[in-house]
Amino acid sequence: MYDAEAPWGRDDDYFLALVNETPGARVLDLGCGTGRLTVALAAAGHIVTGIDPSEASLAAARVKRGAERVTWIRGTASSAPERAFDVAIMTGHVSQFILTEDEWTGALRAIWRALVPSGRLAFHAYDPESHVWERWNPHATRREVALRDGTRVSIWTEVTGRTDETVSFSHHYQFPGGETLRSDSSLRFWSEPRLRQSVIDAGFTIERVDRGWKGEPVGSGDGELIVVARR
Ligand SMILES: C[S@@+](CC[C@H](N)C(=O)[O-])C[C@H]1O[C@@H](n2cnc3c(N)ncnc32)[C@H](O)[C@@H]1O
Repeated sequence: MYDAEAPWGRDDDYFLALVNETPGARVLDLGCGTGRLTVALAAAGHIVTGIDPSEASLAAARVKRGAERVTWIRGTASSAPERAFDVAIMTGHVSQFILTEDEWTGALRAIWRALVPSGRLAFHAYDPESHVWERWNPHATRREVALRDGTRVSIWTEVTGRTDETVSFSHHYQFPGGETLRSDSSLRFWSEPRLRQSVIDAGFTIERVDRGWKGEPVGSGDGELIVVARR
């Protein structure tokens, strides 16, 4: 289902180009999910490790073409080997799935340890200033996607709760015949200054924060905060 609703996009182009700046890089794809970008990085000549806590996602990743070139690990940032990577990435808003401040701080420190000196970290988060969750309602999000076997599934998203820092929401899936499934998630939203400071506090130097997938500056772009930092 995830692969059908989340095909290759401009975010993948951005991260692939960024990793390609280090030819033959040892890459950590943290929160690799079903491995869309992970296998593409390996195909581009990088030495790639994909880590994710979800066994179901890893199972989908392992059967992708070229998956045998990737080292797959079920776990989180603390499962990564130390001083082993030139580049670490978190794509698909993985950083925001790490909900508490303690967990986020721990993840950043573990990534710092996993990188070699001068190794690069790149990840993205929705900018809370973009109020992206205001568009997460059935009216604005309802669409149809086709599974590989041709089954057409109607999907939509709705917000189910908010706190100062988190937004909870449900993805709904309606199959032909009426069966429905629901997937509940929460994302942590931090302001740009707070996000920057957390990265600096973990020992990184910030290279840049882009606002969109074409490198747009403050006040424009796709409502994203794309952070590129160095150990
Ligand atoms: C929206 S998916 C993104 C997957 C993939 N990076 C992509 O771009 O398609 C978010 C992923 O974050 C993973 N995740 C959730 N909590 C995590 C954690 N603490 N550490 C690492 N990954 C986590 C989930 O299992 C899920 O695969």
